[in-house]
Amino acid sequence: MTKKILILPGDGIGPEIVAEAVKVLEILRARGLDISIEQALVGGSAYDKYGKPLPDETLALARNADAVLLGAVGGPRWDNLEPGLRPEKALLGLRYELKLFSNLRPAILYPQLANASTLKPEVVAGLNIMIVRELTGGIYFGEPRGVRQLENGEKQGYNTLVYSESEIERIARSAFEIARLRQRRLCSVDKANVLEATRLWREVVTRVSQEYKDVELSHMYVDNAAMQLVRAPKQFDVMVTTNMFGDILSDAAAMLTGSIGMLPSASLDANNKGMYEPIHGSAPDIAGQGVANPLATILSVAMMMRYTLAEPEIADQIETAVDQVLTQGLRTADIYAGEGKKVTTAQMGDAVAKMLQ
Ligand code: IPM
Ligand code: MG
Repeated sequence: MTKKILILPGDGIGPEIVAEAVKVLEILRARGLDISIEQALVGGSAYDKYGKPLPDETLALARNADAVLLGAVGGPRWDNLEPGLRPEKALLGLRYELKLFSNLRPAILYPQLANASTLKPEVVAGLNIMIVRELTGGIYFGEPRGVRQLENGEKQGYNTLVYSESEIERIARSAFEIARLRQRRLCSVDKANVLEATRLWREVVTRVSQEYKDVELSHMYVDNAAMQLVRAPKQFDVMVTTNMFGDILSDAAAMLTGSIGMLPSASLDANNKGMYEPIHGSAPDIAGQGVANPLATILSVAMMMRYTLAEPEIADQIETAVDQVLTQGLRTADIYAGEGKKVTTAQMGDAVAKMLQ
């Protein structure tokens, strides 16, 4: 059956990088992969046209698709909108409405880029971490939330960190399953010394671990985990954590690899339907200049092949193609460290596409 892929370019550099990933998808289709490709608006660009960042039409197309490829959303033009209309709300809405609770964020250092990392090559060489971030719960979605007026006239902002056992169980299972396909080591990150919600997290993850005795489970407080990530990141195989801790730790892990422009992500529901996106943002400061790195988006297509389309060989081929263009010395500005050939967004995309032809 034809797999439906919905493309949501979004804002900032989103359209430029997604265009390169679409080149890759078109080649796969020409090679015989049974996919259909549709496009829709999301984020600030959707707000400009429809007055809301996640139009009903876009959400309906996303529900109907097998996989969604998203560029990035947001930018200074929309920063002063009320929270419910901001472009980021579209991203959170898609995650929530599509029940994409399991967010996989790999941080892999390509040896060709060891010099682009701000850490010493020996600290990061061979790095391969998978961060599994809970994506539809925690403080991002907890109620009550808001800004209220206190009796003394002062305003008070508040959010709620909530996790139910079933939410923790399902993300723990996702993480254990992934660990089984790797080095079978899982580190669960929490703040169980202070926050009750994450004390329960630790309890439930420990309980689920009884079903996965072949995986070695450890626990770490989030502050220590942040430190360990920059001190000795190779100690980690798979990390599983809450929505907000995962947001923060995945940015830190991304930088270990030299550039956030290299990192893809997958957000999956219980049936492996997924939304795929680079973990970097919309980078409005460089939008439209053709200098953005399309590799994170292209690598997101590889993840789509692996997790939703169940085409692991194609996923491997895309990853190999990226590896090869890096070996050839092609570098977008973010990964250029004085060696190799500086290329534009489109030149990088073309090079990968050609490898796959
Ligand atoms: C991410 C981003 C988003 C998040 C923002 C844009 C809402 O930082 O995907 O990591 O906080 O989840
Ligand atoms: Mg983030």
